[in-house]
Amino acid sequence: MIHRIAVLTSGGDAPGMNAALRAVIRAGLYANKDMFVIYDGFRGLLEGNIKQVNKDFTQDIINRGGTIIRSARLKEFKELEVQKRAAQILRDYDIDALIGIGGDGTYQGLAALAKQGIKVVGIPGTIDNDVGSTDQTIGFNTALNTICECVDKLKDTSSSHQRCSLIEVMGRHCGDLAMFSALAEGAEGVICVEHPLKEEVLFKKLRAMKAQKKDHAIIIVSENLLDINELAKRIECETGFTTRTEVLGRLQRGGSPCAEDRILAARLSSHAVKLLVENQVETGRIVGIRNNKVVDYDINEAIEMKHEHTHGLRDLIDMLQ
Ligand code: F6P
Repeated sequence: MIHRIAVLTSGGDAPGMNAALRAVIRAGLYANKDMFVIYDGFRGLLEGNIKQVNKDFTQDIINRGGTIIRSARLKEFKELEVQKRAAQILRDYDIDALIGIGGDGTYQGLAALAKQGIKVVGIPGTIDNDVGSTDQTIGFNTALNTICECVDKLKDTSSSHQRCSLIEVMGRHCGDLAMFSALAEGAEGVICVEHPLKEEVLFKKLRAMKAQKKDHAIIIVSENLLDINELAKRIECETGFTTRTEVLGRLQRGGSPCAEDRILAARLSSHAVKLLVENQVETGRIVGIRNNKVVDYDINEAIEMKHEHTHGLRDLIDMLQ
């Protein structure tokens, strides 16, 4: 029987992590469990930065960006000795189960603790939407909206100067932020793992646009793929289009979560707690959303799942470009 549940956020922060934290704590309290937060992710766990919380802790956080219990990336958590120490700390606090909100890295940490006998549940929170066990991660939609706001503004100035804008977005190695924003913005081009650069096709299109005196061209590029400044030089040289580059960077991780992310956070987090309350967690589970239904998987199976990009999206982008 589970009495005491702790929750942490880990990895790159994402809008909606606070909404998820709020839902975890409130669902736990509703089921008469003692609820704890762990500050600073797995690093805070090792430092024993653990605090019992009540409903007041969750007041007015549903709309706040970032994570009020902070986050961290901890490479040392890959070491067995460190994992054992972390599990012992949880036992010292009489904590029966740990919920982690984050992406793949967080799930790896949770899986390691599950091997040490701690019951764990993972909730997907990352702007990258690169988690295989869910159709959507908490934070993705807000980041997408942020990108669209930025691109709308860049279109204004690009038009005034008849420029091409190369805009780099996040996503780690997943092209969802790039492809969805390109579709939402009617961008002239998108470059990501799922939609690689075909230089000659791009140059031909930009030359034609230049000849037709089009106001602007917007190209969205996923991070970690290529040097956008080099590509900008090539575009100028091959097409005559004056080109500027913009890296949106961590702006994409900030801001108040959109309603969709808040609601996703509520659905996934309450399910995570329910699994624990109803004793459905033997070692570790991961919650997610599939075809708008809340689902859960064994943690090790979930980690092996590959994120599949939305069916038909690439063709749709090509058709409408
Ligand atoms: O995973 C979220 C993310 O924002 C990625 O899109 C990006 O590659 C990475 O984190 C950047 O991490 P950091 O802020 O630690 O440099």
